[in-house]
Amino acid sequence: MTMDSFDQLVQGRRSIRKYTKEIPSEDTILRMISCAAMAPSPSNSQVVRFIRIQSETVRNNLQLSLESGYQRFLKCAEGIQNGKRLRNRINVYKRYSDFIFAAPLLFAVGFDTGHSGFSKILHEAGVLEKDFRGPIDLDITVGLALKGFILKAETLGIGTCIVSAPFVFIEHMEAILGLTGISVRCLMTAGYPDETPTHMERKDPRDIYQVIS
Ligand SMILES: Cc1cc2nc3c(=O)[nH]c(=O)nc-3n(C[C@H](O)[C@H](O)[C@H](O)COP(=O)(O)O)c2cc1C
Repeated sequence: MTMDSFDQLVQGRRSIRKYTKEIPSEDTILRMISCAAMAPSPSNSQVVRFIRIQSETVRNNLQLSLESGYQRFLKCAEGIQNGKRLRNRINVYKRYSDFIFAAPLLFAVGFDTGHSGFSKILHEAGVLEKDFRGPIDLDITVGLALKGFILKAETLGIGTCIVSAPFVFIEHMEAILGLTGISVRCLMTAGYPDETPTHMERKDPRDIYQVIS
């Protein structure tokens, strides 16, 4: 297969967890958000929201909550079988969470909960027992917007990392962020890279593709 510039962009991207101190400009942030905004969404509902967490107080509160969740898990892991293995796991995910507080840009990314998709409309009308589809569609939509953001970031020399591990440690994420009407699905860091991660293997396309014929 020949590689074009889009292939190279996609294949060259790596998650970045170590950044220089330089903070990308507001204009740069908006260019990345613009690409996120072009993502498809159910009925063009454009439900995805990016919230930049700039406040030191809010960042500190997130860190305190993460630390308290971490201590809680360690305590629970004390008395159980395979506790050492579990503690190691907890420590790894703590490390894969802690770096966010040193990132120049930290975003909460989620969706506006006011949106009514097809499945929710049927559920609210009493036709469907459960809005089983809405939450899935909304998560897909957040993912697509993130993809636009991180690829545009790549073209601007900005590294990003999508982060979900802190959600396991932190209770009441939306309350700490002071958000209502938004379901936060992940965090994302961004900034100018201060590391060059090595290449990470991916499956062969034929391993993730099948045809029902
Ligand atoms: C939904 C999601 C959650 C993730 N959560 C974390 C996380 O909590 N901490 C972290 O350091 N990386 C996290 N990552 C980044 C992955 O570890 C990373 O994408 C994967 O290892 C592949 O590496 P690459 O992005 O450099 O190609 C997450 C990625 C996704 C898509």
